[in-house]
Amino acid sequence: MTDPRHEKEQQKHRLNEPEGDEIDVTRMHLGLTREHGEPHEGYEPMPLWLPTLIVGLLVWAGYYIGRYGGTFDANSYDPVTIEEGAGSGNGASQGSPMDRGKNVFVSTCVSCHQTNGEGVPDQYPPLAGSSVVTGDSKKLVQIILHGLNGPLVIGGKRYDGSMPAWAGTLDDAQVADVSTYIRKSWGNKGDEVTPDQVKAIRAATSGRGQPWTAAELGLPH
Ligand code: HEC
Repeated sequence: MTDPRHEKEQQKHRLNEPEGDEIDVTRMHLGLTREHGEPHEGYEPMPLWLPTLIVGLLVWAGYYIGRYGGTFDANSYDPVTIEEGAGSGNGASQGSPMDRGKNVFVSTCVSCHQTNGEGVPDQYPPLAGSSVVTGDSKKLVQIILHGLNGPLVIGGKRYDGSMPAWAGTLDDAQVADVSTYIRKSWGNKGDEVTPDQVKAIRAATSGRGQPWTAAELGLPH
């Protein structure tokens, strides 16, 4: 049994009402206005960092695959193929002529002609900007195969050194690749040299037992 009066008292108390029967609506809503709006799903714009991150990852992934993907060649990671390539010299069939030529250059020519192809003043002539390098490919291949000795003028400077022969060390493909590499590097603009060209020149000069001289090849000296 509850006393209806008592109940009304309680109700007043609950609504935090001041004395009196009127309900203060503003006060009632004060609590509500303090609250934050309910979260709801909508069409919020995507935060900028998200697409930036995604594009960044795509670019990185593309670069990574391009750099380390080995042109998707199944043999890329085959240790047998790689060892053959490093060992026999015939495995030079991997990569572009420029890549292979660079390898030959780094292992065979760089000690004298330097990485940037500038040579060493008064000792080793530059290959960068040399008309001998970009000119007649036959003379270039002849020099690489059998060496060069004695006075020579490159870029207006005189050299009188001795370049060793490589006919016994480098095969036709390697001579072709390194020729192509030096003809197209450091701003040089020459055309490619093919293994067949080298083969023909090697056959035609096979009796040659000593280095050329600039005079013999018709080069400035
Ligand atoms: C031991 C040092 C040495 C090495 C290694 C060497 N060269 Fe030379 N090279 C010379 C010298 C010295 C001359 C200049 C010879 C002369 O004075 O007659 C020369 C001249 C040349 C020339 C003609 C001159 C010019 O500057 O255009 C070419 C081309 C050339 N070398 C290419 C090569 C290539 C390609 C290789 C690697 C396969 C190579 N050389 C490795 C020392 C070297």
